[in-house]
Amino acid sequence: MELKLAFAGFGNVARSFSRILCEHRSQLATQFGLRWRTTAIATANHGCVLSGGDIDLEEAATCVSGGYSLLGLWRTFDATNTFHLTDNCDADILFETTPLNPINGEPAISIIRRALSRGINVITANKGPLAFGYHEMKALAIHRGVSFRFEGTVMDGTPVFNLAEYCLPAATVTGFYGVLNSTTNFILTGLETGRSFDECLLEARKSGIVEADPEHDIDGWDATVKAVSLANVLMGTDARPRDVERRGIRNLSAEEVRGAAEEGLAIRLVARAEIASGKLMIRVGPERLPRESLLGAIRGTSNVLVLQTDLMGELAVVEYDPGIEQTAYALLADLIRVHEDMLRGRRRGSSRAG
Ligand SMILES: NC(=O)c1ccc[n+]([C@@H]2O[C@H](COP(=O)([O-])OP(=O)(O)OC[C@H]3O[C@@H](n4cnc5c(N)ncnc54)[C@H](OP(=O)(O)O)[C@@H]3O)[C@@H](O)[C@H]2O)c1
Repeated sequence: MELKLAFAGFGNVARSFSRILCEHRSQLATQFGLRWRTTAIATANHGCVLSGGDIDLEEAATCVSGGYSLLGLWRTFDATNTFHLTDNCDADILFETTPLNPINGEPAISIIRRALSRGINVITANKGPLAFGYHEMKALAIHRGVSFRFEGTVMDGTPVFNLAEYCLPAATVTGFYGVLNSTTNFILTGLETGRSFDECLLEARKSGIVEADPEHDIDGWDATVKAVSLANVLMGTDARPRDVERRGIRNLSAEEVRGAAEEGLAIRLVARAEIASGKLMIRVGPERLPRESLLGAIRGTSNVLVLQTDLMGELAVVEYDPGIEQTAYALLADLIRVHEDMLRGRRRGSSRAG
């Protein structure tokens, strides 16, 4: 099947995903029967373009990373802004990768709502929509008979949502804890080895893992929004980031982190969720942990999530040293899943017709 792809956001994640798409074009066709072309790309400062044909993704990526506008691309026309593009694009799937807004999840929620309402499948790497509108987005997708997928939002390409959906049938997630933010973990482990906060942050920025606003990482917002997303999707709650008791790593000194290391302890930014007396409690904050413990041993950009379940006990998923390519892979995995869903839908449609 040939899929028409649209992009809302064309930054680090979307461009890395485009590279994978282009490099694996023939594998996708032969292994999955998945062919694709790009009909729309929206950015904030590099233009929003629509095309009736196929936008050259490599050229678009070169253009944006070089700081140029997409408006000059061959056979495209100006879509004015992202909402207009979403309302008018001819697309089967929209990839939403605009920056995280930890206050209300916008404009991602509005973009996704508009796309789903038009019957366009949505794949996002942005956790804002899960923390502020998961149940609405899910219901809208079901109502329109399309998919809403988001594997890359919490642990990049490491399966978390797919793990729970496909590999833990009948099990209930009763709580979780983990180290979920790569930037703060990279800084904390860097401080342990005597490097400065700013040095570590700069290096993390170069690798593309830092949020558009680094304060979202440092003040614990990213981990908070991830924890709320996990709770809403895996535990069925309708929590919001404001419900979380949140502390970041801004007030930790290098001396404190090094002192803990000398005592055999590691300071990690930990997210925890549990149901206590029938009430959901989510906390994010630095914790002093034994260095040899599962969470204390997590270094660099690595992440760990422990799911607590009724039937499977505790299950840990570790993402080892992820980079931007792992998030891009999540978009690819979701794309293949949506393609399978569409093929199944088509087969059901044709067998009903028959
Ligand atoms: N980076 C990671 O490792 C990682 C991992 C997991 C999840 N995520 C999530 O993935 C998303 C994208 O991250 P990123 O690193 O790719 O961010 P990024 O490099 O800052 O790119 C964001 C893109 O969104 C565009 N944009 C901003 N506002 C927009 C709007 N209203 N309409 C259309 N486009 C808009 C920007 O346009 P301009 O370039 O013109 O400003 C840019 O192209 C974020 O939600 C982030 O939380 C990132």
